[in-house]
Amino acid sequence: MSIPQHIAIIMDGNGRWAKNIGRERTHGHYHGALNIRRIAIKAHQLGVKVLTLFAFSTENWKRPESEVSFIMDLPRVFLNNYLQELLDNDICIQFIGDWKNLPASTVKICEELLEKTKDNQGMKLVLAINYGSKQEIVKSVNKFITQNPNTMIDETMLESYLDTSHLPAVDLCIRTSGEKRLSNFLLWQLAYSELVFCPLHWPEFTEQEFENTLIEYESRQRRYGGL
Ligand code: IPE
Ligand code: IPE
Ligand code: MG
Repeated sequence: MSIPQHIAIIMDGNGRWAKNIGRERTHGHYHGALNIRRIAIKAHQLGVKVLTLFAFSTENWKRPESEVSFIMDLPRVFLNNYLQELLDNDICIQFIGDWKNLPASTVKICEELLEKTKDNQGMKLVLAINYGSKQEIVKSVNKFITQNPNTMIDETMLESYLDTSHLPAVDLCIRTSGEKRLSNFLLWQLAYSELVFCPLHWPEFTEQEFENTLIEYESRQRRYGGL
């Protein structure tokens, strides 16, 4: 199988999954966080180099405070339960998005995940927290202008200022839960990525479903505008 180097996932549907089984939305977020482990280990075993996961968008602050604070505590659950396994699998955690506005306790846990896995040479697991693609592009352009007054920006320059500058191009983007939109995720980076939309909600998206999306990816012909 031709394995994509970089896969991005919009992990959607936690709330609806929980509601469907008569539970609170937060129950879905908890199980969604647990599912990160299952898919990350599988991706790593298949030889994926980078797995970027949309965990919290710049627009998700609109949700009730109780739901937002539950989500902001999930990196701690992840650290407590999975740090050893990440180390055993040589997985390196990285982040994209803006840490300002995050609770100090969340930043501290994210720093710990970053620091403890930084020497791992295996797959990069990139968590997008308080990430918005439009904000990322505006921030990058402003930084460029400040550092290079009176210079026109070009594509290569802009790319080098994005949060993803050190990562390979995204080959495949998967969105779970049946929605068919990008919701402000990696708008620039997905310019020529393959898109797969899966009807399952994120907590029920299994390793087998993940492999099925890779089979779908393999059947696509990437032309980049050529013939
Ligand atoms: C995705 O699940 C997780 C976040 C956006 C934080 P949702 O919470 O959006 O679940 P649905 O889409 O409402 O079911
Ligand atoms: C996108 O899902 C954000 C994440 C998965 C973190 P949303 O649930 O926020 O997207 P919309 O509101 O349905 O577009
Ligand atoms: Mg959603």
